[in-house]
Amino acid sequence: MTSPDHLDLPPLLGAAGRVRLPGSKSISNRLLLLAALADGSTRIDGLLDSDDTRVMLDALRTLGVALERGDDGSCTVHGCGGLLPVRSADLFLGNAGTALRPLTAALALAGGDWRVRGVARMHERPIGDLVDALRGIGCAIDYLGNPGYPPLAIGHGAPRLDAPLRVRGDVSSQFLSALLLALPLLRCAHDVAIEVVGELISRPYVDLTLRLLARFGVDVRVEGWKRFIVPAGSRYRSPGRIAVEGDASSASYFLAAGVLGGGHGAAVRVEGVDAQSIQGDVAFARVLQQLGADIGWGEGWIEARGLRPGVRALAGGDLDCVAIPDAAMTLAVTALFAAAPTRLLGIGSWRVKETDRIAAMATELRKLGALVDCGDDWMRVQPLADRDWRSASIATYDDHRMAMCFSLASFGPADIRIEDPGCVAKTFPGYFDAFARIAKPVPVIAIDGPTASGKGTVAAHVASALGFGYLDSGVLYRVCALQALRRGVALDNAEALAALAADLPVRCAGAGVWLGDEDVALAIRGEAVGQAASRVAVLPSVRSALLARQRSLRRAPGLVADGRDMGTVVFPDAQLKVFLGASVSARAERRYKQLISQGISITLDDVRQDLEQRDARDSNRTVAALRPAVDALQLDNSELDVEQTVRQVLQWWGRQALG
Ligand code: DC
Repeated sequence: MTSPDHLDLPPLLGAAGRVRLPGSKSISNRLLLLAALADGSTRIDGLLDSDDTRVMLDALRTLGVALERGDDGSCTVHGCGGLLPVRSADLFLGNAGTALRPLTAALALAGGDWRVRGVARMHERPIGDLVDALRGIGCAIDYLGNPGYPPLAIGHGAPRLDAPLRVRGDVSSQFLSALLLALPLLRCAHDVAIEVVGELISRPYVDLTLRLLARFGVDVRVEGWKRFIVPAGSRYRSPGRIAVEGDASSASYFLAAGVLGGGHGAAVRVEGVDAQSIQGDVAFARVLQQLGADIGWGEGWIEARGLRPGVRALAGGDLDCVAIPDAAMTLAVTALFAAAPTRLLGIGSWRVKETDRIAAMATELRKLGALVDCGDDWMRVQPLADRDWRSASIATYDDHRMAMCFSLASFGPADIRIEDPGCVAKTFPGYFDAFARIAKPVPVIAIDGPTASGKGTVAAHVASALGFGYLDSGVLYRVCALQALRRGVALDNAEALAALAADLPVRCAGAGVWLGDEDVALAIRGEAVGQAASRVAVLPSVRSALLARQRSLRRAPGLVADGRDMGTVVFPDAQLKVFLGASVSARAERRYKQLISQGISITLDDVRQDLEQRDARDSNRTVAALRPAVDALQLDNSELDVEQTVRQVLQWWGRQALG
């Protein structure tokens, strides 16, 4: 399956709804390994189905572990009782740290002839602390590339466990977790101690490991988060059946959406985690609460309902993120909407994740206009005033969390493009669909129709009745044509016209249309300009040069846009699409009366001929041809006056807003 190279997110007005979270990545991959090493079979319910878990499943199959996937998302693993059936293999583990680290430890302790490698970025993520710890007890591990990094060759060592194992805990807690997961494989007859050197970061992830070990019958004793003792005779025994909680890191995006877009009765609820969760990232919900969010908790769910009464914006300030390294990325984006600057502290581990997340985050936040400072293990993000937001195309660095957390930028007044959105497959393949289900885009009413169908007048009235902005897209083509006529640019010179359209200094304000300093509202209404407009509008390069400008007008509280392709091309996700038509004679008569009242002398026949010509050109062009969108409501207003037409459109809008 190929995924698109980018995704344009509509600007959001709000958020509401429920999301069933996919299974936790950290729990899924730990459980798979525990179940594979245990005595007996384990049925795992709610296993995450993503790139990282697929990598672990493939590796276990290669190691000879028997597995069965159920249609209901479950997976039954037939444990090997501590003895891997295969003794030699080459394992490719993608960019899954939760697979590569514990498997390295398990294979080193099991001994054999193994090669362990991943994608290029995996080979830049340090593993030296884990290798040192394993070599320290006599395991045989060699670096196949750069010392300190995968790929690795693992051989037959002679692990001795008479002295404590020592491992550093200040780069990644995954090294300690990996050792804890692997040690019971040895079924040692005496206690085995692991001593952590340096400050242990991301403790909740170690706690998660310990809780899962306990479910498989191994109770590790913890002494001050410095010493971990695996008791004599420890071996994994299957609990029979075990369920994976929803992913608390994935929950962070939806909870943040509920804070930024909820309130006034609207809430976003995540299902699959709650206050009892064993994942550290549920603390993210408490951080939001401290910052002023209205958070509700229940059995099996957490809900974000905007801000607490009286709170106008999330508070900023210093936030210690050591315990929530993944969810902290979400805070870097919500900081744009805060009342004061936010400093994220203790995020040094970001540097060795899927990408250097501190550098990547700072670069992308700056594209939006934000002021960001950062150091080795901290980042300071200034909030963005509405006028300072810039539309941006966000690079995602093959990092699922970059893609997911920047979706929240669509609550700002800018157009957000997410590059390589498919990278979310690492942990949450359906992320953008789930996000779209809770996101409430800024509403657009698209009114398309042929010349003189009355769409401009109707659209302006509907906009003013609803307090929405108004886009008369024909104005852009007309101003472009006017400029071309004035500058003597040939009306078929696609390249020159596109350049002219891209830099058009046009601005609409009330009834005025400004080209630079000149009000051209009247000048663009002449028939010659109208004819020229329909010729420049045929050119794809001109149309695409004007596209971003039209979309940028979609701002809260809403937009009514009229033209030829509002519902089909410019706003294909418009909440209401109307295609306004009228017979040629009704339209010719209207246009004739209008021109005569402006003192322009013309015959009804000429007007009719001109209309027919333009209809043909607008309808027959190869791009954005005039035609109703498949989901447009059609209205023939030959026999209706403006007021009746407006009433009908407002009625449709009211009905759709209710539905
Ligand atoms: O709606 P109008 O008459 O002001 O539009 C002028 C020309 O611009 C019309 O001939 C077709 C073109 N146009 C278009 O191609 N697409 C739009 N969305 C709006 C106008």
